[in-house]
Amino acid sequence: MLRPFIAGNWKMNLTLKESKDLAGSIRADIEGMQGVDVGAFPPSVFLESVYSVLKGSSIILGAQNMHWEDNGAFTGEVSGSMIKDVGCTHVILGHSERRHIFGETDSMINLKLRAAFARGIMPIFCLGERLEERESGKTFKVIEKQLKTGLEGLKPDDVSMLTIAYEPVWAIGTGKNATPAQAQEVHGHIRALLEESHGEDVSTRVRIQYGGSVKPDNAAEILAQPDINGLLIGGASLKKDSFCKIVSVAFEQVRSPV
Ligand code: 13P
Repeated sequence: MLRPFIAGNWKMNLTLKESKDLAGSIRADIEGMQGVDVGAFPPSVFLESVYSVLKGSSIILGAQNMHWEDNGAFTGEVSGSMIKDVGCTHVILGHSERRHIFGETDSMINLKLRAAFARGIMPIFCLGERLEERESGKTFKVIEKQLKTGLEGLKPDDVSMLTIAYEPVWAIGTGKNATPAQAQEVHGHIRALLEESHGEDVSTRVRIQYGGSVKPDNAAEILAQPDINGLLIGGASLKKDSFCKIVSVAFEQVRSPV
């Protein structure tokens, strides 16, 4: 069993004080839980302050995005070395909101993935189909293209350290999560594609998170699927109670595997 990775994507939410309070209460709550990776991904302006709250704990700190260049005339962007400077070890790349609201392409995401690994930052690489793509039977095709272009030119060792997040766009923030069987079907396909492109050793080491309307009451059956190795949580990560409840579901499954 791969070590589950439960990550909270706070998106563009919370005040500075709320971010620090949330980080502090998650830290206090999960103290002593072992066998599960837990991560917080606050807005970039709050990273340094959240880092000061999480420093010395096992909680992973990551940014929600980064540019592929290290510095230069890119107004409004932050680079990998900048997020590293304020304590990040991880970064979310290719989130569907970046793709569909801000026009990020598979090639841009590929540049970002390469830049993250070049700077020693561990990416969570997001992919997923839109509703019309699912309804017209194109889910696997869309995933294949996102995965193939995203991973182009990456070293197999880097790919094996990757976390992939499968987030069907129609399930994000809609309250409509994929059924565990729907999610497992795509996760299994992603792993099969990885095996084809990078071999079995790499494919069995990559963690694949599910994201999209995960709540404390649906986390257990989603996490029980064989190819689901964690969760990327939006709305439910903004409250300590719901987030930590989901973390404890993962923790219980590690203690007594189903
Ligand atoms: P929700 O959990 O709010 O549906 O968001 C999922 C997501 O986009 C996490 O990255």
